[in-house]
Amino acid sequence: GSTTPAEYPSRRRLDTAPLLAAARGAEPAHRPVWFMRQAGRSLPEYREIRAGIGMLESCFQPELVCEITLQPVRRHNVDAAILFSDIVVPLKAAGIDLDIVAGTGPVVANPIRSAADVAALPGLEAGEVGAVATAVGLLTRELGDTPLIGFAGAPFTLASYLVEGGPSRNHERTKALMHSDPTTWHALLGRLADITIAFLQAQLHAGVDAIQLFDSWAGALSLADYREYVLPHSQRVLAEIEAAGVPRIHFGVGTGELLGAMGEAGADVVGVDWRIPLDVAAGRVGPGKGLQGNLDPAILFAGWDVVEREVRRIAAEADRARAAGTTGHIFNLGHGVLPDTDPAVLTRVVELVHSL
Ligand code: CP3
Repeated sequence: GSTTPAEYPSRRRLDTAPLLAAARGAEPAHRPVWFMRQAGRSLPEYREIRAGIGMLESCFQPELVCEITLQPVRRHNVDAAILFSDIVVPLKAAGIDLDIVAGTGPVVANPIRSAADVAALPGLEAGEVGAVATAVGLLTRELGDTPLIGFAGAPFTLASYLVEGGPSRNHERTKALMHSDPTTWHALLGRLADITIAFLQAQLHAGVDAIQLFDSWAGALSLADYREYVLPHSQRVLAEIEAAGVPRIHFGVGTGELLGAMGEAGADVVGVDWRIPLDVAAGRVGPGKGLQGNLDPAILFAGWDVVEREVRRIAAEADRARAAGTTGHIFNLGHGVLPDTDPAVLTRVVELVHSL
C-alpha cells in the first residue's frame, strides 16, 4: 500500500525502503537488517550519553531519545531505527509505580494479583506519552529514508511483569492467576491491551513507519494456553492498529510451537528466535507473511568465520522459506544484542547481509 490514511498525516512515504518492501512482500533493493536492542549498552556512545540518567527518566526526554535512537543507525547503517523506549514506559506514564533496575529489569512496587488490583489499574491518555510522540516527530525529520519502528509490549508479557512484580524465570504467579481466576485474568489482559493500543496509536499518529509487538515471554506457555488466555488480546491490539496501514511485526522468544498462532494474531511479519530454522518456521507460520530473524546473539562472540557461516545459512533458509510462500525476510538476531557484544561485529554483519 502507498497511501497514508487521513488520520495519520505525519506518515512519510518510504515505500521503497528495503525494510518496508520486504515486510509487504515486494522485492527490496537489498535484504534489510536491523537488530533488536541495537540502541543500548553495546555502544560506548550510548553508555556515555546515559551516564547519570535513569533508564525510565531518559525515555521521557525527547532529544535524548532521538539521539540514542540515531546512534546505531549512524554506526551500523542498519535498515531501520527502533525507537529508544521500553515496554514498561506506557505503564509508568499511566501512573503505575515501577522502575527499571540496571542488570535486573522492570520492578513493580505493588504487584497486581486480585480483581480489585485489576479494577484499580489506570488507563493511558495520549498526553501522558507526549514526550514519546515528540521524540518520534524529531526522529522522522532526522532519519531521511530510514524507517522508524515503534513498539510496545504485548498484554501477556506486560502482565507477567505486573503480576510477578519483576522479571521471572517460571512465571508461576502469572500462570496461577490465569488458571485459577480466568475472569480476572481476561480483565487484566483487556486493560493492558487498551494501554498497548493507546501507546501504539500515539506512536503511529506521530509518524512511525512500522511497529513491533514484543510478546517476549509468550514462549513460556503451551499452545493451548496461549490460544485461550493470550491470543484474543494480542489479536485485538493488532486489529486496532491495522487501519494505520504500517507493517506489524510480532515477536517472542522460544515460540517455535506458537508461530502459527502468533501469525494468526494478525502479524504481517513473524519474528523467530534461533531455536528453529526459518524454513521450518515458514511451514508453521504459513504462506502470505514475512519472517524476521534469527541469528543467535551469542554467535556474535564466536569469531567472524562462525558469524559469516551462520549469516549465510540463515539467508539460505530464508530463501527456501520464500520459495515455500513466505513473503519476505528481514534479517535480525533471534533476541536482543547482548551488552558485551563487539559493535564492530554488528557493523560487519550489516555489510555482509547487504552483500548477499
Ligand atoms: O534498541 C532497541 O531495541 C530499543 C530499545 C528497547 C529497550 N527495551 C531499551 C532498554 C526495546 C525494544 C526494549 C523492549 C523490552 N524491554 C522488552 C522486549 C524485548 C526483549 O528483550 O525481549 C522487554 C522484555 C523489556 C523489559 C526490560 N527492560 C528488560 C528485560 C531490561 C534489561 C534489564 C538489564 O539491565 O539487563 C530492560 C532495560 C532496558 N531497556 C535497557 C535498554 C537499553 C537496559 C538498561 C540500561 O541501559 O540502563
